[in-house]
Amino acid sequence: MGTIGVELAGKTCVVTGAARSIGLAIAEAYREAGAQVAMIDVNPEVAGQAERLAAGGARVKGYVLDITNRSAVLECFAKIAAELGDPYALVNNAGIVDQRPVEETTPEILDRMFRVNVHGAVYCIQGVLAGMKRMRDGKIINFSSKSGKTGSALMVPYSAAKGAVIALTQALAFEVAPDNIKVNCVCPGITDATGVWSSVTKGYTENLKLPREEVVKKFTAKVPLGRLTDIRDLVDFVLFLTASGEYCTGQAFNVTGGREMH
Ligand SMILES: NC(=O)c1ccc[n+]([C@@H]2O[C@H](COP(=O)([O-])OP(=O)(O)OC[C@H]3O[C@@H](n4cnc5c(N)ncnc54)[C@H](O)[C@@H]3O)[C@@H](O)[C@H]2O)c1
Repeated sequence: MGTIGVELAGKTCVVTGAARSIGLAIAEAYREAGAQVAMIDVNPEVAGQAERLAAGGARVKGYVLDITNRSAVLECFAKIAAELGDPYALVNNAGIVDQRPVEETTPEILDRMFRVNVHGAVYCIQGVLAGMKRMRDGKIINFSSKSGKTGSALMVPYSAAKGAVIALTQALAFEVAPDNIKVNCVCPGITDATGVWSSVTKGYTENLKLPREEVVKKFTAKVPLGRLTDIRDLVDFVLFLTASGEYCTGQAFNVTGGREMH
């Protein structure tokens, strides 16, 4: 019996939010697997990171893009298809977080949270679907969060937006299953050495009046496996979903060390 799985060498994989942290590590792993990698970020540093990864001849390109601008997103994906080929994989990793009591949440904060985490992901999906449908193949991997399943205190807009990412994943999975496109999301737990966690610890330090070490201890103690998520745990899972997982669609997979179990 043959094994299931696809060879990533020569395939085009797009990662949003690839200038740093989780997105950058996923782009690095795709490059190691021999894929052509499109790295998108609103942060212009993505260009330098892409150049670094392209050294030695790898086909890696950086695209400075704000994913909340739909026409710019569609233009950017047309450029990616022309320069690197139709994407086989899209990782909607770009996201923002905010932390404050719900009474202090302004319409602007709520709006921004949904524009980046939800609208931006939908626009990027619109950018890849025509090519994936032509190929009758593709993987879309959205980033939700543990907070999208069990909401987090002081993070009402973020939790709501990440919950929406799970529902949009399911809706899209139904819609594009006839085209053999698989759509899933990853729900990370608190991930060490990332922008989101450093902004959340700052928020908790201010709102709970606890020193940072106490915040880290408090949240680590809630994880059955006894440590925070490592970026490599997420890279490993995203690579699995990209190169394998052929019978999985519409799922929201926890990568939380057992912190979230449904
Ligand atoms: N770090 C965690 O603990 C954690 C936990 C659960 C879920 N997540 C999710 O994982 C993903 C990555 O998290 P991270 O901690 O690596 O984030 P990060 O803040 O370190 O990096 C996110 C990247 O997205 C980019 N970005 C933000 N807005 C953008 C926009 N409008 N257009 C294009 N790029 C934009 C940023 O410039 C940044 O480079 C996010 O979706 C986050 O919600 C993270």
